[in-house]
Amino acid sequence: MQPLRYGFIGGGFVAGFHLQALRQVHGVEVAGFVSKDPLDQAVAFTHEHRLGEGRVYQTIGEMAPNVDVVALFVPNYVRLEVMEEVVEAVKAGAPLKALICEKPLARNMPEARRMMELLGQVNLPTAYFENQVHMKAMKAIRQQLAPTTGAMGPPVLVRSNEEHAGPHNGWFWDPTRQGGGVMSDMGCHCLAVGWYMLTPPGKPVDFLRPQSVQADLSLLKWGQPRWRNELLQKYGVDYSKAPAEDFATGIVTYKNPETGRLLKAQFTVSWMYDKQGLRLLCDGLGAGYAFEFNTLKSPLEVFIGDVAAESLADAESALEKSQSTRGLLAIQPNEADLYGYTDENVDLVEAIGQGQPALLDCNYGLEIVRLTMAAYLSAERGAVVDLTDPAALEELETYVPLIQQGRGAGLLGG
Ligand SMILES: NC(=O)c1ccc[n+]([C@@H]2O[C@H](COP(=O)([O-])OP(=O)(O)OC[C@H]3O[C@@H](n4cnc5c(N)ncnc54)[C@H](O)[C@@H]3O)[C@@H](O)[C@H]2O)c1
Repeated sequence: MQPLRYGFIGGGFVAGFHLQALRQVHGVEVAGFVSKDPLDQAVAFTHEHRLGEGRVYQTIGEMAPNVDVVALFVPNYVRLEVMEEVVEAVKAGAPLKALICEKPLARNMPEARRMMELLGQVNLPTAYFENQVHMKAMKAIRQQLAPTTGAMGPPVLVRSNEEHAGPHNGWFWDPTRQGGGVMSDMGCHCLAVGWYMLTPPGKPVDFLRPQSVQADLSLLKWGQPRWRNELLQKYGVDYSKAPAEDFATGIVTYKNPETGRLLKAQFTVSWMYDKQGLRLLCDGLGAGYAFEFNTLKSPLEVFIGDVAAESLADAESALEKSQSTRGLLAIQPNEADLYGYTDENVDLVEAIGQGQPALLDCNYGLEIVRLTMAAYLSAERGAVVDLTDPAALEELETYVPLIQQGRGAGLLGG
């Protein structure tokens, strides 16, 4: 079988993770790139690891006829315009087999609806890339527990956390461009993981019906003068005027439509986690059993003492968003695989090969946007958002969070 030719749109941080992942995936060739910034690093990596031709195109319209799959690895604020260009290219005859959209699908429901409307014009199969659902550890937990959940019932509580010390690029910090703060950026991961890990084996990813969302958002670190000033100097983002949340927590209630049982998924995300680096944490409880996963617990540790500190290497070689270059470092030697980037690409390649849908598509991405918006609305109102109430669902269709509008100062301080 001919390899699937990927065309990357965007060649930044997440594209780099996918390139690492693709070294571990059969049947894909990195055929092309389109980007606003120079692509030297991405192209050099592609060539060094013989991932494909990695030809640089000036426009999506030029690249699309020469690839099988386009991957949207661009910032949230250009999602729609990039999608419009892809759809134009398909209408002009580019025979694409699928489109990948990195999380989040969109910043709010009106944008998510527009994304789906554009996709509907060309009937393009999609893969919504939510890597954490694809983590090997999540699969292993579900497999290991399958006989137990069969006998005792699926988990009733899942707690999912993602925390690090803050994003790598200015646009993430700007709530108007990114869509909010950490809830918009990382809440989508934990919402997806919680939903998925509560879902009984063999059932579709949207089997459990969301009933309600209750959330609390705050600005605990980056609103303080010292840190606010750092954001202003480094990224030109002013949290005294338009702040975003650096901590969010909440709970989603789901209902099993067959048993009527209510289940809980609790999430916590933060950009103020001043520990070694990125930590993904997930635990779950069912009747008579439990599981727990923590990416900072690596079998590999390296220690660099003060005397040796002059020879320090790049901190991020240890872990995504590493905070320290010395002391006892937690090292994850294959983060692309650990975090699920490898397996989400494998899932797509297999799905296309078998003419089946990917595990997660853009419709699922839209459901995650809805839950994210419900979390913002809940925090704004200080109330539980009832997702079984048609009026609440209608309100979410047009709702744009105050924080996303750049008007979060009243809510968060600033
Ligand atoms: N799955 C994850 O854990 C994860 C991690 C990081 C980022 N992401 C998501 O991936 C997306 C990209 O994030 P990133 O961290 O790579 O951002 P980034 O800022 O590091 O890179 C963005 C890339 O997009 C390019 N770009 C910008 N506008 C463009 C346009 N109009 N056309 C073509 N290229 C354009 C830039 O030149 C750059 O190469 C975001 O939506 C983000 O939420 C997901």
